Amino acid sequence: MKIDQKRIPTHIAMILDGNGRWAKKRLLPRTLGHRKGAFNIVEIAKECSLIGVKYLTLFCFSTENWNRPKDEVKYLMYTPIRYYKKYKNKIWNSSYKIRFIGKRDRIPAELLQIIQEIEDKTKDHTGLTLTLCVDYGAYDELTTAVKEIASLVSEKKLSIDQITKECIEQHLFTKDYPNLDLLIRTSGEVRISNFLLWQLGYAELYFTDVLWPDFNRKELEKAILSYQSRDRRFGGLNENK
Ligand code: IPE
Ligand code: MG
Repeated sequence: MKIDQKRIPTHIAMILDGNGRWAKKRLLPRTLGHRKGAFNIVEIAKECSLIGVKYLTLFCFSTENWNRPKDEVKYLMYTPIRYYKKYKNKIWNSSYKIRFIGKRDRIPAELLQIIQEIEDKTKDHTGLTLTLCVDYGAYDELTTAVKEIASLVSEKKLSIDQITKECIEQHLFTKDYPNLDLLIRTSGEVRISNFLLWQLGYAELYFTDVLWPDFNRKELEKAILSYQSRDRRFGGLNENK
């Protein structure tokens, strides 16, 4: 079966899971799994872009991942800084618009500076919008949105009747993103883990046992084929059936 080019999902999100198990299977330290996983982000972004996906949103580090051992957190926070120094020209010259979503008050200053620089250097790029979710959690995102809306109401800048679905969406990190079409989670876990809870409202879900470092173009095509086999009715009826 071949992918139908007319029905490519516009916006795919992925929960990147299984780096640790990939390393363990090879008797390697977990950090090498993360390293391989990081390089796979580059591969899969390239494949998505070639296939014609417009938005790729990746769960890289959650608000709960701070609970991991100190050394692992340190590796996850500081390794991107090293890679950035090596690859920054490639990033700046790519076609991708790279964005980061998540809390901004706990990540190391050096990483924050890089995040701002990448966003700034790629903001006018017209290729794939690649969003990396770092210190992201949907409970945090929704709590922040509620607080913002509540303060607008208390300042009388917004009435209760103006709190609509669209209004709430304007207070999410993804306010200028198209609807999420497909969520992929690797490594066999079948849960959402506090990722994009609102945005997942009508997304198609795809779970695979493949570990993130092993997830490749073939696996991506399988996920898209599965997506294309679904009958998306959004609660209505499909009149063509
Ligand atoms: C995903 O891989 C990477 C991050 C969450 C940073 P894991 O580190 O969760 O891998 P497993 O679940 O231990 O295999
Ligand atoms: Mg995991």
